Amino acid sequence: MKHIFRKGNPNKPTLLLLHGTGGSEEDLIPIAEMIDPDANILSLRGNIVENGMPRFFRRLAEGVFDEEDLIKQTEHLYDYLSEASETYKFDRDNVIAIGYSNGANIAGSLLFHYKHPLKAAILHHPMVPRRGITLPPQPQLPIFIGAGVNDPICPKQESTDLEQLLRSQEAEVTVHWEENGHQLTRTEVLAAKHWYEERFK
Ligand code: MLT
Repeated sequence: MKHIFRKGNPNKPTLLLLHGTGGSEEDLIPIAEMIDPDANILSLRGNIVENGMPRFFRRLAEGVFDEEDLIKQTEHLYDYLSEASETYKFDRDNVIAIGYSNGANIAGSLLFHYKHPLKAAILHHPMVPRRGITLPPQPQLPIFIGAGVNDPICPKQESTDLEQLLRSQEAEVTVHWEENGHQLTRTEVLAAKHWYEERFK
């Protein structure tokens, strides 16, 4: 996968950055720097291109995911993390995802399909990746969800459903609500930073 790897303090987590639709591997670097300037960074570009816009999996329409492709790309990402950890010599068991929108959705899909695929996850404006499946347990896995009360792409119920599903997996879920829409605001990132520092600093 097209990516940026930046080595940080070897004792720190590796922040896995996953951009939103139409983004690139550059997008979330400033956010990772805000959250933990000493961490390693692995920032990926989605392999799927929709009308020129990179994404992490195909969709059939706005908010309607191509489940077959979602499963395939999730597996690909899962395998890629092991490969990258060998190439760049980072600890595969100390990877924390930071995803926005489509990137948060594939991070959520990792949590829906694999047992303990990440050490923790910061999900900015995620949706429920799949419904009606048995989910693997993720005991005590820390998850931050940033959501907007007026998010047209990810309505309130969607965030609440995701929170409940992740809790049913025994994850430790924190939801931060913004009086905003789908955009990623500075206050939301600062809330994620505060959440991260309480757990990982
Ligand atoms: C998705 O397709 O993953 C969601 O609709 C969010 C987005 O627009 O990227």
